[in-house]
Amino acid sequence: MKKDIKLIAATVVAMGLLASPIASAKEIVIKFSHVTTEATPKGKGAMLFKKLVDERLGGKVRVEVFPSSQLYTDKAVLKALLLNDVQLAAPSLSKFSKYTKQWALFDLPFLFKNPQALNCFTDSAKGQALLGAAERKGIKGLGYWLNGMKQISANHALINPEDAKGLKFRIMSSDVLKAQFEAVNANPQKMAFSEVYNALATGVIDGQENTWSNIRSKKFFEVQKDTTISNHGVLEYALVTNKRFWNNLPTDIRMQLDQIVKEVTVQVTQFALDAAVKDMQTVADSGKTNIHTLTDSQKEQWVSAMKPVWAQFEDQVGKDNIAAVQQCNAKN
Ligand code: SIN
Repeated sequence: MKKDIKLIAATVVAMGLLASPIASAKEIVIKFSHVTTEATPKGKGAMLFKKLVDERLGGKVRVEVFPSSQLYTDKAVLKALLLNDVQLAAPSLSKFSKYTKQWALFDLPFLFKNPQALNCFTDSAKGQALLGAAERKGIKGLGYWLNGMKQISANHALINPEDAKGLKFRIMSSDVLKAQFEAVNANPQKMAFSEVYNALATGVIDGQENTWSNIRSKKFFEVQKDTTISNHGVLEYALVTNKRFWNNLPTDIRMQLDQIVKEVTVQVTQFALDAAVKDMQTVADSGKTNIHTLTDSQKEQWVSAMKPVWAQFEDQVGKDNIAAVQQCNAKN
């Protein structure tokens, strides 16, 4: 009897040993939740990431993409990321103020001259160092993903800063963006991306700021009579993951994922540059919103009204970072 028990015990141990390679080969699932549609730079980037992972790591890693706020808003997704309920997200850098104050740099009005200057900064040593700013809070930045320059819209023409006075503008959850609209005597309202269309359509808010890609894909132009080509700010994403999850991945898999992220990031830049041209044209062709181009002196008035905001935030975002962006502006 004793012998039988020993035999059973030995068999159980052996089965356990046999089972362990199967257990360790269990597929890793990466859930990627984001808020834009699939036909946007970020949406395409997420799908390309999934495709490359399928091709190179199929059977070992599976990526599940949830676009259009299907799973979480940006505010909720960062909490879910920290709980490891999702493993990838790419919110706007404007939405991380709970996790780092430094990424507010990207919201300073009229800081970046164009997307090329933005890329120059994010590729620089300072930009790359800044990508790690939320790590202390458990959020690891894997890369910057471009969307583009923001435009401003309302139901009357916004030509001079005075035209924005008293209007309610939706903003992302950023104190810099709040200060930016207060600087032109408007009323900024923090609101989730998924709620903006209805808020514009029902008059809960009067105006908004976003890129051509988002103005087109979320149909904001259908409920805004006037859109001004202001290029007053940028929309840039941080592709982020749960630091512990990423660092605990098997090294070979992590290295391949890092490589895929690099390749996808390059493609996202191209998707974004293409979208800025194509989506602006689609919006213009729709005839549903009047598109206004500012003269140099009109633009200068917006710069003079909004730029004093920098002084409020320069210690928080780093004067050295601002100087590094200005060097990029000079080169682009
Ligand atoms: C996004 O592009 O991810 C949304 C940005 C916003 O909330 O306006």
